[in-house]
Amino acid sequence: MSYFRKNIDEMTGYVPGEQPGADQRVIKLNTNENPYPPSPRVLQVLRETDWTVLRKYPDPMANKVRDIAARLFDVGRRNVVCGNGSDELLTLVLRAFVGEGERIAWPTPTYSLYPVLAEIQAAEAVEIPTRDDFTLPLDELAHVDAKVVVVCNPNAPTGVFTPVEAIADLADCFGGVVVVDEAYADFGPGSAIPAVSDKPNVLVLRTLSKSYSLAGLRFGFAVGPPDLIAGLVKAKDSYNTDAVSIEVAAAALQDQEWMRANVEKIRSERARLTQRLTQLGFDVTPSESNFLLARVPDSGAEACYEDLKARGILVRYWNLPRLADKVRITVGTPGQNDALLAALETRREEKRA
Ligand SMILES: Cc1ncc(COP(=O)(O)O)c(C=O)c1O
Repeated sequence: MSYFRKNIDEMTGYVPGEQPGADQRVIKLNTNENPYPPSPRVLQVLRETDWTVLRKYPDPMANKVRDIAARLFDVGRRNVVCGNGSDELLTLVLRAFVGEGERIAWPTPTYSLYPVLAEIQAAEAVEIPTRDDFTLPLDELAHVDAKVVVVCNPNAPTGVFTPVEAIADLADCFGGVVVVDEAYADFGPGSAIPAVSDKPNVLVLRTLSKSYSLAGLRFGFAVGPPDLIAGLVKAKDSYNTDAVSIEVAAAALQDQEWMRANVEKIRSERARLTQRLTQLGFDVTPSESNFLLARVPDSGAEACYEDLKARGILVRYWNLPRLADKVRITVGTPGQNDALLAALETRREEKRA
């Protein structure tokens, strides 16, 4: 006898990338964190925040951040809702739009949390494979019978970018809500927000975890038409973002220069890493994100992942269709990337010997 709902009993749950303890000295290229620290303005806020504010509940709407985000994307306050990371916003999407037994679709491979959220909701997942080059099956997505289509752009774990005009066309054809997960958009050609701001059925999810180096903070926001935003507000916890994170998120968003400079460093390392991995025989999917999906030459990708781990370098490996021969590598600092490349070179020499 179980106390749980049947779907909870039957599901496995999300498996996050390994988070080694603070005392473990590893090069961590497995969860697409930013290798550079957050803006110094964040530190200033943390130093200067009056700790007695914690006595009171925070602003339930995080209006300070809503207004800054609205200015950044040239929309209004009513077009923005804040959340405890974009993962929470994805949960809200499922809760608000997809009932038990209803359908939600996405292209595969993609972010491995989506199926887990569908399982929690007891929703039916419709998974449509991407093309051989991992570009999206836009026609199939446009005509799928589902309440929601989720498009991750640039996609994870492939790094493939879908032109924003194509997303706008998808929104015109699809009968439900299109959710664009832009966790990595700052590393790519741009956001879909300007192209879809007149659409009644598009929500764009943004996070401070990646480009703003704030994965530990847990802050994200959704941008969309006021009625969709109002529905998400009804479904959210009252105080879903805390008083300190509201101040920190506001400071980070106001330092665009810092974020952009780090993004540029990562882009330039992404190009160098792509070239060097290709020289080492890896087949690298062209990426517009802060990670690379690379097919491992000759031997198994799992062995490569284990070997790197034994050498103190964490990358990500999935034993899943179309991914089992590949590893996903987060772009690190030049030093971290050099260490990865040196380990792969040593591995190649050892195998030749
Ligand atoms: C595609 C995608 N969306 C969302 C998230 C989660 O972002 P957050 O830290 O804001 O919950 C991740 C994290 O890795 C991701 O890869």
